[in-house]
Amino acid sequence: MAKVTKRIGLSLGADICWPIAFTEILKRLDLAVRRGRDTLRFEVERMTIDPFDIREPRRYDVVIDRLTHWYSTRREWIKKAVILDDVYVFNNPWSVQSMEKLTTYAGMVRLGFPIPETWLVPPHSYEPVEDLEVTLKSYARHFDLGAIGRKLGYPMFMKPYDGGGWRAVTRLEDESALREAYDQSGKLVMTLQAAVHPFDRFVRCIGLGPQTHVVLYDPKAPLHDRYTMKHDFLSDEERHLIDGMTLVINAFFGWDFNSCELLHKDGVWHPIDFANPCPDSQVTSLHYHFPWLIKANLRWSLFAAATGRTVKPLAWHDYFAAVEEGMTLRERIDALMPLVRARFDTDAFEEFCQAHLAHLDEVTHAWFGTDDAVEAVRRKVSALFPPHEVEEFTGLFFDRIQQWRADDAGGVRP
Ligand SMILES: Nc1ncnc2c1ncn2[C@@H]1O[C@H](COP(=O)(O)OP(=O)(O)O)[C@@H](O)[C@H]1O
Ligand SMILES: [Mg+2]
Repeated sequence: MAKVTKRIGLSLGADICWPIAFTEILKRLDLAVRRGRDTLRFEVERMTIDPFDIREPRRYDVVIDRLTHWYSTRREWIKKAVILDDVYVFNNPWSVQSMEKLTTYAGMVRLGFPIPETWLVPPHSYEPVEDLEVTLKSYARHFDLGAIGRKLGYPMFMKPYDGGGWRAVTRLEDESALREAYDQSGKLVMTLQAAVHPFDRFVRCIGLGPQTHVVLYDPKAPLHDRYTMKHDFLSDEERHLIDGMTLVINAFFGWDFNSCELLHKDGVWHPIDFANPCPDSQVTSLHYHFPWLIKANLRWSLFAAATGRTVKPLAWHDYFAAVEEGMTLRERIDALMPLVRARFDTDAFEEFCQAHLAHLDEVTHAWFGTDDAVEAVRRKVSALFPPHEVEEFTGLFFDRIQQWRADDAGGVRP
């Protein structure tokens, strides 16, 4: 029998609070997982930024990555480590790099999900490059922006095809607003999308591996109040559809960790933004929901490390083949779910959690009652709020976590 250490690397940027909780709770779990003839122990390490030899020996079994979407040095390290060493990483860097918002709409249109009508328009202006003039002269045709606007109707949204973080998103009420917004859009390549309007509910569904967590979202509230603490805002059927759409999206595009935004209107849940492969993980946004994220992250990364999980290729055509014309959304999701379960190895994951992580709830619950947890919250708050507000906001966020603990103890599982 051999003792084997599995190492989880944290590829971090401005993340402050969740890595502390993750590391401390992992320590307290004190895992020793029997697998075959081995006993597995787990270590976590924050990755540093260094020059690297592509032939360097393998150091990590799993990497939880928060940098790939903007920091190419780390992205290239990860890609070489996947290719050379079979490191498992979430999210898949190739998916992060190449699945823009517009691509994701297209994929889900093909699967028959209720994506609002969406167009793409060529940019208003360009960076001068050598072949630009001849290309535009030959092939760029005048188009009638007003006609596209009339097709989509108002209000509509203009947003970058590869957007994120509300960057350059505008809601347009009429044709003159559309023309003005386009004139000001500069070099951005813009998507125009019919608004889901008026909507009566807005949710964010966080998916992490086969796990999901749905939060009622209030986009008009200040940042720290947007993730509401409400319960019972979905029927069972709605929950099934929202979980299902999120998991299909994540399995289809190769994201393990993603946040899917959906709006409800006239009995239909419309996914409107689901290319979010570096979801908000801050305690100052998630507060009440933060412990769920820590637990989900631990379960999935430990499962991946223990089972020697490797990055799987995408298999879009299997998904296309699973759906048929005329199916309802529910039927589509149910037909696609076996592919999702196979991709995330859901059965093996659930078995692993039952066998080795039965104490995770209790350990997490206890840790979030400690001074270390207050300190983790304070460190994040100190980075975001002015000094005279630090104590007040630390108290506010910590109180919300204590509300989660009370609900958790009472059997309310958000
Ligand atoms: N089709 C739409 N219908 C209604 N609201 C929308 C639509 N598209 C975007 N929005 C609103 O604009 C916000 C930002 O757009 P989103 O696509 O989420 O961009 P980002 O990726 O920058 O978050 C959404 O959270 C939502 O409030
Ligand atoms: Mg969004």
